[in-house]
Amino acid sequence: MKISSDIKYVGVNDHSTDLFEGQYSVPNGISYNSYLITDEKNAVLDTVDAAYGAEWMENVKFELGEKKPDYLIVHHMEPDHSANIKLFTDTYPNAKVVSSAKAFAMMVNFFGTEFADKRVIVGEGDKLALGTHTLNFITAPMVHWPEVIMSYESTEKILFSADGFGKFGALDAPEPWIDEARRYYIGIVGKYGVQVQAVLKKAAALDIKLICPLHGPCLEKDLSYYIKLYDTWSSYAPEKCGTLIAYTSIYGNTKKAAVLLHELLTQKGIECEIFDLARCDMSEVTAKAFCYDKLVLASPTYNGDVFPFMREFLAHLTERNYQNRKVGFIENGSWAPIAAKVMRGTLEKCKNLSFTNTTVTVRSALNDMSREAIVLLSDELSNT
Ligand code: FEO
Repeated sequence: MKISSDIKYVGVNDHSTDLFEGQYSVPNGISYNSYLITDEKNAVLDTVDAAYGAEWMENVKFELGEKKPDYLIVHHMEPDHSANIKLFTDTYPNAKVVSSAKAFAMMVNFFGTEFADKRVIVGEGDKLALGTHTLNFITAPMVHWPEVIMSYESTEKILFSADGFGKFGALDAPEPWIDEARRYYIGIVGKYGVQVQAVLKKAAALDIKLICPLHGPCLEKDLSYYIKLYDTWSSYAPEKCGTLIAYTSIYGNTKKAAVLLHELLTQKGIECEIFDLARCDMSEVTAKAFCYDKLVLASPTYNGDVFPFMREFLAHLTERNYQNRKVGFIENGSWAPIAAKVMRGTLEKCKNLSFTNTTVTVRSALNDMSREAIVLLSDELSNT
């Protein structure tokens, strides 16, 4: 695939992994992107997952033709991009490996060598001249590991953005960008909003025509749309006004309460989505919670706590710094309801959350009193 006359895509599509990074379902697969810049000096940018080394190397050789690479640029050491560094250096022993000092320290752990005879350490502001192309390095710690660098090719004005601006989904399975990019961002980088903001500030000083990430498509048109979304996500601002209802239910009574709230909000014209935490993709519902400005959690009381799926969901939210939103609660308990107290107690450690005045308590099954409380909750959610 051609990015420009001198820059080619040499990455691969993975349709075989069931769980990316051991936890994320990828129904449309995922791409591991790698690029080749040919010039007076030739540079390969990143490798791919271990399972695709042979395919990647074929792509590199095909695009190189008679040429040989002078450099391998390693933007990120997570194995989905770095697993084939040794394959590369064994194949091209005269090529240099260019990366951050922290990345070379990680190479010792992964490969038993920091490639001392071919190591080129780069940091913030360093440049690598290839001929008519020059790579300008930008450090991007914790986006999404500490060693990450990005590079800006200043002739064609391309930002090679490492994991930033990536998405789930292979390149041969086209789909809308936003939902799978949000699920990818919130799931994988969501904890590191401060660090993403720092990189966005550096990127704002660049004239960028194309963003080439390590996953998903290169972004060319309307770059401000993508950059604005990254600014929203990394500043923990809601993307939309609306309510996400996340429930878990044992015998269906808590579900009935959640569904009633969903119906009432929908009737009021409020954008609202509802997820059963026992049956949905946890990364999808987590990303949706960050999308909306309001959240309602509904759980039975279970062993003096919340139901396990709710506990897991709360952990996904808090470990990603959930904040700046309004939250309401529906609890169920046949003899000692305590789920609302547990859910609120967990979220009270988060920054800048407000809570609805109404908390719904269901005593085993819906009755007039709990239905009335759900109406009050829907009024509150639709009036703020
Ligand atoms: Fe795609 Fe953080 O690796």
